[in-house]
Amino acid sequence: MRLRVFPAIADVSMEKFDVVIIGSGPGGYIAAIRSGQLGLKTALVEKDKELGGTCLNVGCIPSKALLTSSDHYMFVKKEAAKHGIVIDGAHADLAKMQQRKDKVVKTFNSGVRSLMKSNKVTVLEGTGTITAPGKVSIKSSKGETQEVETKNIVIATGSAPMELPFAKFDGKTIVSSTEGLTFAEAPKKLLVVGAGAIGLELGSVWNRLGSEVTILEFLPRIALGFDLELANLLQRLLTAQGMTFHLEAKVTAVNSNNGRATVIATKDKEELKFEADKVLVSVGRRPFSDGLGAEKVGVEFDEKKRIKVNEHFRTNVEGIYAIGDVIAGPMLAHKAEDEGIACVEIIAGKAGHVNYEAIAGVIYTNPELAGVGLTEDQAKEKGVDVRIGRFPFRANSRALCNDDVEGMVKFVADAKTDRVLGAHILHHAASELIAEAVSVIEFGGSSEDIGRTCHSHPTLSEAVREAALNVEKRALHIINR
Ligand code: NAI
Repeated sequence: MRLRVFPAIADVSMEKFDVVIIGSGPGGYIAAIRSGQLGLKTALVEKDKELGGTCLNVGCIPSKALLTSSDHYMFVKKEAAKHGIVIDGAHADLAKMQQRKDKVVKTFNSGVRSLMKSNKVTVLEGTGTITAPGKVSIKSSKGETQEVETKNIVIATGSAPMELPFAKFDGKTIVSSTEGLTFAEAPKKLLVVGAGAIGLELGSVWNRLGSEVTILEFLPRIALGFDLELANLLQRLLTAQGMTFHLEAKVTAVNSNNGRATVIATKDKEELKFEADKVLVSVGRRPFSDGLGAEKVGVEFDEKKRIKVNEHFRTNVEGIYAIGDVIAGPMLAHKAEDEGIACVEIIAGKAGHVNYEAIAGVIYTNPELAGVGLTEDQAKEKGVDVRIGRFPFRANSRALCNDDVEGMVKFVADAKTDRVLGAHILHHAASELIAEAVSVIEFGGSSEDIGRTCHSHPTLSEAVREAALNVEKRALHIINR
């Protein structure tokens, strides 16, 4: 089958697909590729002009483009001279930074489109609505509607930014991450509500580009879900970079007037008041299934409006599956991707499976915070007896060469079996370094397995090995008492 792009109405309505996937984010488009590889007749439905969903268009990819550019800028401003590189008059050209970011996104958009073509996936442009099991109607932006028949439907409609009930997004002063990626100039004062991944990443971007960034967080800590010791260390480092944190501060009111905002938060029964040019609300995302018609065909949802599925991604309705942010679990692109692969493998009669113990989370600040598996606190809560191995990058030769010594690696290993239950890394390169620990957890390996593995010298990955060795208090480059 050739790639057919809407409005090839007459053509596709005659066809019966094996799988119709609704939503082209990393969950949906990866499911479509795998489905094509498995020889299933596949269609991918997308309401937006471009493929790739939140991650590619207004999430992971553009934010990482801006994080990298602003990180380079910080290097030039604050670090380069230490390396003997003297750059006079360096300044940030934000328009150019934004153009580069847009180009990165466009390159990926066309990459995904050509992957659909090479995997013989039919792309249907428009909003997909399930009218009955096995039937999806697609309404284009021009209002044209067509209906396709399919043996299986995979819902991969993702999530949308959550609003505070008293602070509706206006796209200008009270904004979500979508607009937080597109500011034409760095706001003088940026108030961020929520110290999760989005608040910390976009807070970092604009802090580096000159904004005065204040983060208000309801909890007594930042980066919930990550190792507390490393999260506290990250908070200290971000504070040293110029960001201000108010923890245990619950935002209760936001008033915007003439392009300025006043934010009220309560902390210990005390009222705090802040003025800001922009307020970035990053208090989580909600599963998105607006216009999908899933309820009408009897698909069950849980109390958080997530679609209920079993371990095979099957909803309660025969032939309807769901994956990614719209079901339970961490809202992460790579979790959605793996669910997409497993789901279509199951549809194809194979044994698809996702190991939820081996899904890393990363916050792409500088240093980056990465974690997989159990934290020390989670192990304690579960009553699991663990041993901890730590190693600071300050004692790693490559980190010293790079002048990039902030952070540490921390392993959580089962005290009886030595099996690695969790790994946590705070470092500029944590997002890449965590992959070794993810593999070891996937294979059910022990800290000794990592300790006995030869790591190239000098590399940052030696710090991972040293932390693993230190589960038995036998790291080589620090003194263990
Ligand atoms: P989040 O759920 O990670 O963090 C939201 C924070 O806002 C929480 O710490 C919460 O306590 C706080 N909060 C909620 N209401 C508040 C209030 N009224 N006042 C003060 N604080 C309040 O949500 P975030 O950062 O918006 O991210 C959404 C989702 O997207 C998450 O699941 C995240 O994992 C995912 N994501 C992942 C990224 C990554 O992997 N690097 C990047 C961006 C998003």
